[in-house]
Amino acid sequence: MRVLTQQGLSIDDLGAVLAALPLALLVLDRDLRVVAYSGPNDPAKYLGRYAPELATPEQRDFHERQLRRVLDGGEIVTFDVETLDDKLHNWTRVRLSPLATGEEIRGVVVMSMNIDHERAAQRRADRLRATFDHVDEGVLLVELATGHVIECNEAAARLFQLPHEELTSTAPSWLQITPEGGVRFGWGALLDELVEGRTVRGRAILREGQELSMELRATARTIDGHTFAFVLCRDISKDLARERARATQERLATVGSLAAGVAHEINNPLAYVIANVQYALDSIAQWPLQDGRDAALAQQRAQLKEALFEANEGARRVQRIVADLKTLARQGDDRVEQIDVEHTLNWAIGVTMAEIRHRARLVKNVGPISPVRGDEARLGQVFVNILLNAAQAIEPGNAHENEIIVRTTERDGRVVVEVLDSGGGIPEENLTKIFDPFFTTKPRGIGTGLGLSICHEIVASMRGSLTAANRETHGAHFVVEIPAMGAYPAAAVLHQRHGKSSKPPLRTAKILVIDDESLAAKALGRMLREHKVDIADHAPTGLKMALENGYDVIFCDLMMPELSGMAVHAAVERSSPQIAERMVFITGGTFTEEARDFAAHHAARCLFKPFDSSLVKGAIERLLGDA
Ligand SMILES: Nc1ncnc2c1ncn2[C@@H]1O[C@H](COP(=O)(O)OP(=O)(O)OP(=O)(O)O)[C@@H](O)[C@H]1O
Ligand SMILES: [Mg+2]
Repeated sequence: MRVLTQQGLSIDDLGAVLAALPLALLVLDRDLRVVAYSGPNDPAKYLGRYAPELATPEQRDFHERQLRRVLDGGEIVTFDVETLDDKLHNWTRVRLSPLATGEEIRGVVVMSMNIDHERAAQRRADRLRATFDHVDEGVLLVELATGHVIECNEAAARLFQLPHEELTSTAPSWLQITPEGGVRFGWGALLDELVEGRTVRGRAILREGQELSMELRATARTIDGHTFAFVLCRDISKDLARERARATQERLATVGSLAAGVAHEINNPLAYVIANVQYALDSIAQWPLQDGRDAALAQQRAQLKEALFEANEGARRVQRIVADLKTLARQGDDRVEQIDVEHTLNWAIGVTMAEIRHRARLVKNVGPISPVRGDEARLGQVFVNILLNAAQAIEPGNAHENEIIVRTTERDGRVVVEVLDSGGGIPEENLTKIFDPFFTTKPRGIGTGLGLSICHEIVASMRGSLTAANRETHGAHFVVEIPAMGAYPAAAVLHQRHGKSSKPPLRTAKILVIDDESLAAKALGRMLREHKVDIADHAPTGLKMALENGYDVIFCDLMMPELSGMAVHAAVERSSPQIAERMVFITGGTFTEEARDFAAHHAARCLFKPFDSSLVKGAIERLLGDA
């Protein structure tokens, strides 16, 4: 050791200088005995002691080895040790360096200092780092002057699909974001936008070209004269899918209530159109034949019959569309039963096979799965619609080169049915529209565009989901997910049965028809022409007649402005319960909660407009038979 002192500074002064430093200094000889000590403790505790013995018993060997490295190898060694003083954890940094004169090593200089502050700061930094990494939103710390990312957390590394080191210390100039309907941002423009306090949501392109939907926000802070932006970023693909599903649901709900109103308005006139056309058709069939005597009349009759037949067909078509609309409005009177999904799927495949056969091979990967709860016929309708769409997406004639894959799985308590095809797929911009009612890309007459909106509604009513995507290669991929049975408590079981009996009517009955739509009432009256029918197109009058005249059967419309069918029923029930038992309720669509409950409760006695004469007759036979 070379000690230089200037004039006026003695070797003793040097000792005082050392004692003023926040460290302990020991000088060891070649036998590792302490020959000098300067520090806060009593030197008598150290002088002459074998240095390794000053360490705790567990650390003794370690210390000895380190000291030998210095003594024998001339190395400088530094290490941190934890010591327990008065139950306090202390950290000490120890530095061992050779005490050499020229080539000769004469001993070791041990310098030790307390580093509790440094350790505490380190621990705090570690905790902050762990917290930072634990945040599940990506965080980038960006130096605004250069645009460099100087720190990032684990979530950011995951989001950008890059290791921490590659994301930090450079500017991510590869990042591009295109907000919906907006222009594409590069990194610089994006930072400007974020620092202004705006949130940017859009399609992001990452370094290797991967794409995802992202949302970014930022706040700017100045630290030590440098301005930084804390950029928060997250993957919003799932949020977007959820938002889209909610928007579809809301749109369908609006359309649903509209549809309920429209269905009601159409069903009323349709009821008498169908009833009257049927009446005319029946009557014409009973005209006595003229035995060829009047050929012109016979021909006229045939033409009239044909015209009426076509009118009937048209009206039936309207009836089917209105029925579909009612499904949309949840007006269908669904059964709730246990459904064997595999069986339903096989049925749907059977029904659509004629369409599929000349367009594609059907690849079936259908295994046993749990049953679900719902209306089997409606679920069948869902599969038929999806399979038909798949078939219609493929040009006919190349069956061996095309495929429709149907597969089933079960995950997280949900039954999953997937249908994949090799057709043209769905253009990206249509993916959100295909569930809208009346959205179709098919020519007139082929599609009404109601298929998927109805499927969506049916699956939603079973607490499931229906989603569409495009396959990586080509073609569309539809996924139906429904909770497996047992995954939710049993819903109320609704039954609707139109009792049909083949027995002839027992007798001519006395019947009252109450319907404020007088044409509908008259048409129903015509259907019942073999009975004695009274008609009331004013509800209060109808109620009065019902109470006074003792009818065998009363047909009563549910939705009437002055007095509802439910109120009529309640009044009749009060004065003559047996007659109330023989009331049949007719409806063109129930769109109040009360009416819906009432119809569900009296499902076996409800007739839906436009009604079929066989159902009307069946109802009378049953009621008279029961009487
Ligand atoms: N597998 C598919 N591949 C490609 N496009 C499809 C597929 N399924 C549905 N689509 C698109 O979605 C639209 C809506 O389908 P949806 O079933 O609701 O009505 P539609 O088939 O046109 O008519 P409808 O089912 O009422 O007869 C279709 O017109 C078509 O553009
Ligand atoms: Mg369809």
